[in-house]
Amino acid sequence: MIHDLIARALHVFEPETAHRFGILGLKAGLGPRQIFADHAMLATRIAGLDLPNPVGLAAGFDKNAEAPDALLAAGFGFVELGAVTPRAQEGKPRPRIFRLASDQAVINRMGFPNLGLDAFEARLRRRQRRGGMVGVNLGANLDSEDRIADYVACLERLKDLAQFFTVNISSPNTPGLRNLQAHGALDDLLTAVAQVRGPAPVFLKIAPDIADEDVPGMIEAIGRHGLDGIIVSNTTILRPESLTSPLMGEGGGLSGPPIFERSTELVRLFRRIAGPDLAVIGVGGIDSADAAYAKIRAGANAVQLYTGLVYRGPGLVQRIKSGLVKRLQADGFASITEAVGIDCNLRSSDG
Ligand code: FNR
Repeated sequence: MIHDLIARALHVFEPETAHRFGILGLKAGLGPRQIFADHAMLATRIAGLDLPNPVGLAAGFDKNAEAPDALLAAGFGFVELGAVTPRAQEGKPRPRIFRLASDQAVINRMGFPNLGLDAFEARLRRRQRRGGMVGVNLGANLDSEDRIADYVACLERLKDLAQFFTVNISSPNTPGLRNLQAHGALDDLLTAVAQVRGPAPVFLKIAPDIADEDVPGMIEAIGRHGLDGIIVSNTTILRPESLTSPLMGEGGGLSGPPIFERSTELVRLFRRIAGPDLAVIGVGGIDSADAAYAKIRAGANAVQLYTGLVYRGPGLVQRIKSGLVKRLQADGFASITEAVGIDCNLRSSDG
């Protein structure tokens, strides 16, 4: 596919420059366009949202809401924009994205560079009547004195302009942000979020570096504060032994296939402990239909990806979708929902 070759050719540029060209191309209408409707087997429902297919774009790709409609047209079932913070900020000094080509992975220490809430809101308003599943990843400013107030400010302003929201407390590049995952802090944050949210579902996005023992408490907090689900996971600050790229020592969050196993294990754990009703979005290391299918079988209602696009190009979305249909048919499932959590033995344990 021509778009995949172009995406590959962009690797002659430094990663952030290549990414900028990608966004500009999408904005100019040069991205891929899906012609046919999605296969009916792929339609699914998560937290009350009807998705044409379960393959979403993960946060961080379109930080400033520049190209949501081009991304939807390329075939994503849903697109998560942001992270947005109340005030515009530069983020960390460049270079801050690194391709670990031999590992098909990325390390990033962006630190939430974005144009701020006003610009973000204006862009969402301009596309308000266009439809499509568009969500917003909420962040906090680096120099914020009150991080909780930042999430609240963004959510309050945007609550009627997107179909879902993500409270992102798992980015490793804003010092202290991940401390919001700790029990007391999480309670304070989710209490504040519950006070301002609208009807659109709100998800919590966590790091793959939490301990297994933290999972029951998080499920309990989600239930107690009326959140709608969990996104598992963000990037890791760990460096698995398997890495071979000379850039593995760069600071920041690692994404791509090296995080697949841990993030999938966490999806399985959330699904096992929470049972069939919790909405779970599985993210981390999806670069093929097999990987997407494994996340779904582990318990994800839907999936997202980012790093896979860097190495495989935007055609990956179509390949995953057609591969999912083939695998569902081969395994005798009538739809994607029947395969969710099938590897967790949920059904046999309650029978
Ligand atoms: C990210 N990710 C991310 N996540 C988030 O919640 N808010 C953000 O602003 C960003 N920004 C961001 C920038 C870059 C350059 C990358 C590579 C990633 C994390 C992303 O959404 C996803 O959770 C992880 O990358 C794991 O998925 P993949 O990349 O392995 O498919």
